[in-house]
Amino acid sequence: MSDSSASGRVPAGARLLVCGGAGFIGSCYVRDVLARRDGTRITVLDKLTYAGNRANLAPVEADPEQAARLAFVHGDIADPDVVDMLVAEADAVVDFAAESHVDRSILDASAFLVTGVIGVRVLLEAVRRQTEIARAGERRAPDGTPMGAPRFLQVSTDEVYGSVEEGTSREGDVLAPRSPYAAAKAAGDLLVGAYRATHDLDVLVTRGANTYGPYQHPEKLIALVTTNAIDDAEIPLYGDGLQRRDWLHVADHAAAIDFVLRHGEPGGVYNVPGGNERANRDVVAAVLARLGKPWALVRGVPDRPGHDRRYAMDGGRLADLGWRPTVDPSAGLDATVDWYRANQGWWRAVRDASWADYYARQYADRLAASRPAEGPG
Ligand code: NAD
Ligand code: DAU
Repeated sequence: MSDSSASGRVPAGARLLVCGGAGFIGSCYVRDVLARRDGTRITVLDKLTYAGNRANLAPVEADPEQAARLAFVHGDIADPDVVDMLVAEADAVVDFAAESHVDRSILDASAFLVTGVIGVRVLLEAVRRQTEIARAGERRAPDGTPMGAPRFLQVSTDEVYGSVEEGTSREGDVLAPRSPYAAAKAAGDLLVGAYRATHDLDVLVTRGANTYGPYQHPEKLIALVTTNAIDDAEIPLYGDGLQRRDWLHVADHAAAIDFVLRHGEPGGVYNVPGGNERANRDVVAAVLARLGKPWALVRGVPDRPGHDRRYAMDGGRLADLGWRPTVDPSAGLDATVDWYRANQGWWRAVRDASWADYYARQYADRLAASRPAEGPG
């Protein structure tokens, strides 16, 4: 079941601050929440890194009723001035902002730590200040209406559990991140827990599985395979291609985050699995089949250092709260491939000069050392 009504601990017509709302999952969240036309107002705070894209919000901006409920602020979650000002007006804060690509964190982790650790701390400090004002009975909206303490939801990842060779990760498991990206995300989760224990803030964490769908940057596996295949370009498959990921459609991920925001227990951590575990080889084969492209495009390249073999989470806690994914995995993948085929202007614009630099740095040597990749069983 997914929930589309404002209820629980976030009021109807709430003012939401959505950090990282111009990225892949954040923009889906903004589009889907505003499309309900329930009076919710959203301020997006986004730094517009290479992964942030105002075009992801174009469907909202093209609709006057929705556009009137959206404000966009170009800024950094690590900047306390802008964050304090925006959190002061918010009933809830949802933090999608992050550097999100594992391979880039291996090339240079610095921005991952600034956003994932310092940025999260700046957000939590602002939430703490507003919580203290609310507890003193002095928190007011611009029109003078009393406001409660803000809820804060940190969007996290299954990667904080590390590689899970067997079984599934539960929310209480020890965090064992193995890439700089995952370590920065785990640090964010730990900060959220620390502010809960120390200041009793109304905080939540969701840990989502590998997400796919429209508007995903072409650096990520499914978007990369699709866009390269459309161009008949080589497709780099790391190692033996038998690593396993649990794939979650972006609309389900965004809906789960909203469900937890409205119904989650204060201090709660919730896994968001996709229930769709597949080997990378099989995912690549499914994309190629949809496009009618040959397996010969796929090149086996040297593996990602420290490559996690498998992620898998137990989703019982979220199911008990009342939410399950709704997108059929095969239909979701086919529709995603079709979206990239139909929206080439979007991703060709994203593949700019900085993309060419990154692509060369990440793949030139790997592709030079590549071999034909073994096909799916
Ligand atoms: P993305 O890279 O597409 O988008 C990140 C957004 O954050 C961009 O719009 C970027 O401009 C913005 N941003 C980055 N640093 C910022 C800063 N300092 N201040 C303000 N904005 C900043 O990422 P995504 O795939 O949409 O992921 C969103 C969140 O979900 C991340 O926190 C990620 O860790 C988490 N997550 C992603 C997946 C996935 O498979 N993509 C799965 C689970 C969890
Ligand atoms: O599991 C959740 C995570 O999923 C999120 O927290 C991250 O933000 C998101 O980027 C994603 O991380 P992954 O590293 O799993 O995703 P990526 O698309 O980079 O890779 C998926 C799998 O495909 C992984 O096993 C590596 C492999 N891969 C990836 C690329 C980019 C390849 O074989 N070749 C490639 O060129």
